[in-house]
Formats: sequence, C-alpha cells, structure tokens
Amino acid sequence: MNSAKLSLDIEGQRHELDLPVIIGSEGEKAVDIRGLRKNTGVVCLDPAFGNTASTLSAITYIDGENGILRYRGIPIEQLGEHSTFCETSYLLINGRLPNRGELEGFRNRLTMHSLIHEDMKSFFNGYPSTAHPMAILSAMVCSLSAFYPDALDATNTELFDITATRLMSKIRTMMAFAYKKSIGQPFVYPRNDLTYCANIVNMLFSVPCEPYHVDEEIVKVMNLLLILHADHEQNCSTSTVRMVGSGQANLFASIASGICALWGPRHGGANQAVIHMLERIHASGESVDKYVERVKDKNSGARLMGFGHRVYKNYDPRALLIKKAADRVLSKLGIDDPLLDIAKRIEEAALEDSYFKDRRLYPNVDFYSGIIYRALGFPTNMFTAMFALGRLPGWIAQWKEMNEDPKTRISRPRQIYTGHTVREYVPLDDRE
Ligand code: SDX
Repeated sequence: MNSAKLSLDIEGQRHELDLPVIIGSEGEKAVDIRGLRKNTGVVCLDPAFGNTASTLSAITYIDGENGILRYRGIPIEQLGEHSTFCETSYLLINGRLPNRGELEGFRNRLTMHSLIHEDMKSFFNGYPSTAHPMAILSAMVCSLSAFYPDALDATNTELFDITATRLMSKIRTMMAFAYKKSIGQPFVYPRNDLTYCANIVNMLFSVPCEPYHVDEEIVKVMNLLLILHADHEQNCSTSTVRMVGSGQANLFASIASGICALWGPRHGGANQAVIHMLERIHASGESVDKYVERVKDKNSGARLMGFGHRVYKNYDPRALLIKKAADRVLSKLGIDDPLLDIAKRIEEAALEDSYFKDRRLYPNVDFYSGIIYRALGFPTNMFTAMFALGRLPGWIAQWKEMNEDPKTRISRPRQIYTGHTVREYVPLDDRE
C-alpha cells in the first residue's frame, strides 16, 4: 500500500499521519483523506473541487494536459469513426462493447420503448411555446417517475435495465415534442423502422402531411455529436447526478437534476451562448480582434464562450473532431455560415494571444457544436437539450457505477462556518 506522510502543526497541536495513496490505472495519484477529520479534527477546504477527487471511477479517462479522452479505455477518435451512439451508450453503461446479439437486443429495446404515456402529452399543452426545452425536458424526465412507480426504488437493481432503456428511448420523443410544441406543429411519433438517431431527425423535422426523407449524412453527424458528448467523468452535471443519486433518489429524479445542472452557460448551456456571441459579433460588425481585446478586459464582462476548461489545458479533443465535422457537414449541405468563419478567426486570434496561451484557454466541446446544430436546422435553444441527450448514457453509467459500489454513502460535504457566533434573540419591540 502506497502512503503519504502528513504532519500538521495547527495551533500548537501536532498530528503525524500516514495517509493511503491511491494510484489510478493511468498513474493518477490521490491522497486518501477519509480519516483526516476523525484523526485531526481538521477538514480540507476546496471550493469548486478543483483539487478534490469525489470518487474512483472506471468509466471515462481524461488527460487534460495532453487532450486525451477515452470511454472505457477506447479513444473517442476511434469511437467517433467506427461506432454509433447506441453502441457507445452500451459500452459506457455495461463496460464493454456489445457483441452482435447484444447490440441488436439493445437496439430493439430502445425501439420498443420510445412512446411516452399518452397522458404525458397533455403536459405539453401547459407550457408556453416560448418555454426553453431544458425546462420541459427536466420536468418530463422527472415526471417519468410518476408513470413507473416501481423505478422509485433505486435499490431494485432488477429494474435498472428497463428504467435506463425507457430514459434513453423516451428522451428523444420528449425533446422532439417540446420542439414541435414550440413551433406549433403536430407531434410526430417515433417509428420502429428507424434507427435511434434517424428517429430523432424524423420526429423533429418531418410533418404528417408529406413524406420525409431522413438524410443519412445528418444521421451520421448526429451519431458523432452524441458520441462526443456521451460522458466526461465528474463534470458539474455528472457530479450532480451522483450527488442526488447518493441519497438513493430514483434514476429519473437523478437524471432530471443532471439536466438542470447542465443548463448553465458555464456548462452545457455554453453551446447556445457561443452562437449568441457569434451572432452579436456578426450583427454588430465588431472585428474579431476588437472582441478578443474586450474579452481580455476584465471589466468588460465579456467571456469567450466555448473557450476554456477546468480539466483540458490543451485543445479539447472533442472540439477538434467537431470542427472537422462542421467543415464537412456545411460543405455537404452547401451552407456557407459566416458564424463559422468568425469562430475560426476567433480561435486563430486567441491561440496566438498570450492572455489565452498563459491561461491555457483552448476551444472546448461547445465552441463549434452549435454551428453544426444550426446547419442541421436546430433552433439555438435546442442545442443544450441535444447535449443532454448525448450525455444521458454517461449520466446513467455513472449513476449505475455509484449504486453498484457497496461502499457508497450519501454525499454530504462539510463547511467552514464564518457567520455570527452565538447571540440572543431580540424581541421585535426592542429592535431598532
Ligand atoms: C463544458 O467539466 C467538464 O468536463 C464540462 C464539459 C463536459 O463535457 O461535461 O466539458 C462541458 O461545460 C465545457 C465548458 C463550457 N463553458 C464555456 O465554454 C464557458 C466559457 N468558459 C468558462 O467560463 C471557463 O473556462 C470554465 C467555466 C469552462 C472553466 O472555468 P474555471 O476552470 O473555473 O476557470 P476560471 O473561470 O477560474 O478561469 C481561469 C482564468 C481566469 O482569468 P484570471 O482570473 O486568471 O485572470 O481564465 C480566464 C478567467 O477569467 N478564463 C476566461 C475564459 N475561461 C477562463 N477568460 C475569457 N474567456 C473564457 N472563456
């Protein structure tokens, strides 16, 4: 057993500890401080958890220094080139690639669970057409727990597969219905003769009054985008799913909390914020160099959305693949989007600028993804919902891994209190 010696000298109290050191399969090291408070009365303070590993996990590996991302050991470049979102979801949730029979079985189960209860359709009537899809999606996912009460028992592992399958399949239908509601078009039901991603395209963009051809190119790039978003170790929304699940909340409730956590512009909401940033630059005619200068001025409040990352201090490997796909898709679709040119010019300017280089700020997964979603016809406020759809198998895999660990306890961080020391209640008449 590796160990680290820790000597603490606090207010004349000396503690000498031998703390276990955990070494991960890729050589990452962690000092295990689980016994620290019991042995010293002292806790560690690490707001935003930049120096804290919350768990051991065998699902996803990120090397932020070298821009490496692997799902269950397989590089995303290979999955992006050879796999489908269904197969990658199976890999993340079950820990290995499926054989032919397993993949077919998984696909069929997803096909057979795509309908939502007809009573759920009426929920959509209550939303204004301007409702953000993430508001609807988080509510709908949590509402699934009302229709599958058996799933409320998170400890019932027999129900995990069917519950995960229902989530993976129905999230497409709920997202598509939210979009149709926003544009006043009739809901298009899923079709059992279409693949997972082809169903998404058909439910979003077809209308009942005429035949619709699902473009294989769109299905291909959607598979790639969803694969690249599928998991990313202990990010904000995944940690939220684990936190909520650690209280033994059911899978639907845990995932709904992850959807809400993803929504923020610092996290999954950045893909929408990037497009708004590019549109503002385009509409204002402001030069890219001028905008980049404004970003460097702390008082401007301007941020380079889609840039920077807590873990990647190099180019986000997903951004590299998405940027190439954006070029490919836009030329295939014959689209010349000025926002793509602006994005490339911003990247060029930032990567040569010491402000960004010194802070190791590079494009992240959100910088180019919105350009593709725009070209595919998605409205901007659907981009984060697509991120949630892609991230769903990762959230499910992480929730499962946590629930399967017999050592899992409820997550309950400590704090350091900085408020008033004890003081007396003052009756109302005696107050100023
Ligand atoms: C995702 O965690 C994950 O894995 C997330 C994700 C996933 O797959 O789950 O990868 C998905 O959320 C990607 C990130 C999407 N968000 C954005 O693109 C929003 C813009 N980026 C940031 O706000 C920021 O970079 C974060 C939130 C991504 C990371 O924030 P950190 O790690 O807390 O870094 P920080 O805010 O402390 O910044 C460090 C320095 C600061 O400057 P100084 O105080 O040192 O002078 O870098 C600056 C920041 O001002 N900085 C930026 C910047 N990001 C950081 N300056 C301008 N533009 C930016 N985008």
